[in-house]
Amino acid sequence: MSHCSFFFFLFLNTALPISVSATEFVYNRDFNSSNIVLSGNTATIQNSIVTLTNKTFFSIGRAFYPYKIPMKATNFSTPLPFVTSFIFSIAPCKGFLPGHGFAFIFSPTMNLTGATSGNYLGLFNRSDEGNPSNHVFGIEFDIFRNEEFDDINDNHVGVDINSLSSLYSEPAGFWGGRDGEELEELLLGNGENYQVDRVCGFKAKCYYDSSREKEASEAFDY
Ligand SMILES: *[C@@H]1O[C@H](CO)[C@@H](O)[C@H](O)[C@H]1NC(C)=O
Ligand SMILES: *[C@@H]1O[C@H](CO)[C@@H](O)[C@H](O)[C@H]1NC(C)=O
Ligand SMILES: *[C@@H]1O[C@H](CO)[C@@H](O)[C@H](O)[C@H]1NC(C)=O
Ligand SMILES: *[C@@H]1O[C@H](CO)[C@@H](O)[C@H](O)[C@H]1NC(C)=O
Ligand SMILES: *[C@@H]1O[C@H](CO)[C@@H](O)[C@H](O)[C@H]1NC(C)=O
Repeated sequence: MSHCSFFFFLFLNTALPISVSATEFVYNRDFNSSNIVLSGNTATIQNSIVTLTNKTFFSIGRAFYPYKIPMKATNFSTPLPFVTSFIFSIAPCKGFLPGHGFAFIFSPTMNLTGATSGNYLGLFNRSDEGNPSNHVFGIEFDIFRNEEFDDINDNHVGVDINSLSSLYSEPAGFWGGRDGEELEELLLGNGENYQVDRVCGFKAKCYYDSSREKEASEAFDY
C-alpha cells in the first residue's frame, strides 16, 4: 500500500418492500469518473482506487455514488434496511501529522460547500454542527480524540446523525477470542487495508436500538 492513500471497495444494498426493487451495487476496484462523483480539493481516482486526501493540509475529499438511493418507502416512517461492506486504508504520510479520519455517509446533497476539514471530517462546520436539517447519517472512523464531540479515544468507530458527537461509539476493533466475544482493538490509522465487514442498519438482521429510531428515521426525511 502506497503512502498517503485511502481507498475503498463498496457494496451497498437497500432492501425495499417486495413491490419495489432493491438498490444494489458493487465496485470491484473499478471506480472511475463515470460511476463516482468526486468533490473536495484532493479527491482523485488512480488505478481504479479512490484517494480522498493527500499531503495538503486541511484537505477534504469526497466520493459519492452518483444516483439517489431511496431510503424510505412511501408512507413508511422507518428507513429501509441497508448493508454495506468496504475496504479502506488510512495511510500516514511520513513526516506529517495524520488527518482526523473519514466517514461513510448518507446525505441528501452532494454539495457540502462550507464544511470544515479536520475535526469536522468534511461533513459539517461550527454553525451547522448538530442541526437536524443536515439530514446526514454517517459512520465515522475517527483517529483523533476531540473533546468537543465527547470522543471516547483516538481510534474509534461511531454512529453519527447530523453531528460529530456520536450517538454510539466503540473502540475500533473486531470480534475475536475463542468464541468471538472479545473486542480486539486494531489501529485504524496505521496504513493497513481493513475491510469493514458489515455495516448495517434499520433491522437489517443485526443490532438495532429502537429507542433511537425516531432520530434515525428523521435523518432520512427529505
Ligand atoms: C467505469 O466503470 C463501469 C462499471 O462500474 C464500466 O461499465 C465503465 O465502462 C467504466 N468506464 C470507464 C471509462 O472506464
Ligand atoms: C493534492 O491533490 C491535489 C488535487 O489532485 C493536487 O492539486 C495537489 O498538488 C496535491 N498535493 C500534494 C501535496 O500532492
Ligand atoms: C399515503 O398516505 C396518504 C394519506 O394517508 C394516502 O392518501 C396515500 O394514498 C398513501 N399513498 C400510498 C402510495 O399508499
Ligand atoms: C452549493 O452550496 C453553496 C451554498 O452552501 C452555493 O453557494 C453553491 O452554489 C452550491 N453549489 C451547487 C453546485 O449547487
Ligand atoms: C456551513 O455548512 C453549510 C452546509 O454545507 C453551509 O451552507 C454554510 O454556509 C456553512 N457555514 C459557514 C460559516 O461556512
